[in-house]
Amino acid sequence: MIELVQVVKTFQAGLATPFTAVDGVSLSIPEAQITVLKGPSGSGKTTLLTLIGCMARPTSGRIHLHRLPGNVLPQLQAGDSVEITSLPERFLTAIRRRTFGFIFQQFNLIRGISVLENVMLPAYPTGEDHRSVEARAVQRLESLGLGRHLRASVERLSGGEAQRVAIARALINDPTVLIADEPTAHLDSRLSEDFMALMGQFKAAGKTLLITSHDPIVHGSPLADRVVELRDGQIVAEP
Ligand SMILES: Nc1ncnc2c1ncn2[C@@H]1O[C@H](COP(=O)(O)OP(=O)(O)O)[C@@H](O)[C@H]1O
Ligand SMILES: [Mg+2]
Repeated sequence: MIELVQVVKTFQAGLATPFTAVDGVSLSIPEAQITVLKGPSGSGKTTLLTLIGCMARPTSGRIHLHRLPGNVLPQLQAGDSVEITSLPERFLTAIRRRTFGFIFQQFNLIRGISVLENVMLPAYPTGEDHRSVEARAVQRLESLGLGRHLRASVERLSGGEAQRVAIARALINDPTVLIADEPTAHLDSRLSEDFMALMGQFKAAGKTLLITSHDPIVHGSPLADRVVELRDGQIVAEP
């Protein structure tokens, strides 16, 4: 479970024009469920994801990660809780790698290298044996229907295929939490439905899903356990 307590993110704090993108958000994100953050463009969704995913630090507030996976840091055991906003950068990096998989809005695949190499990239810093990483990457790509494209360069892929590569990459280190930022923004309705069905499978496999979207196919899906609405950096009271 992820627990946010009064989280604030102010850009350009201390300068002439500070801007508070996340303004006092308190929220619990349950395990093995699909939580959708919805809200108009500029409401702070992406900023909130970067804070939860240990990619940026809040200006104030606390973020607790409960029941960490194993092998994060020697000083932490599986099942421990940590408060991430006060941790040194190298700890955050280790936690990020084992806990979170990210599916970015623009997919962020690396051009000029193959599909398989893209998927393997996040595993390099872990020092894991190359062959075992490759075997896992191949298996994951095959299960996502991309077995024919292992050696293709990513420029050749359709939007739906590129996203599935991004999903395979997000899963390569077997994270407990999968974060997807506006995942259906570049997909047609059928592919968007397919995306949600895939998220449903990951949920059934015990992953925690955190998805931002203003697409009704996502926030209106029966697979979404909870929809949290953001506006101007604040949670809109649930009815
Ligand atoms: N690095 C930054 N510096 C200054 N302002 C930012 C920065 N990142 C985001 N913002 C601002 O914060 C607000 C929320 O942005 P964002 O979290 O991307 O919203 P959303 O994902 O809901 O569209 C926007 O007004 C955006 O311009
Ligand atoms: Mg955004």
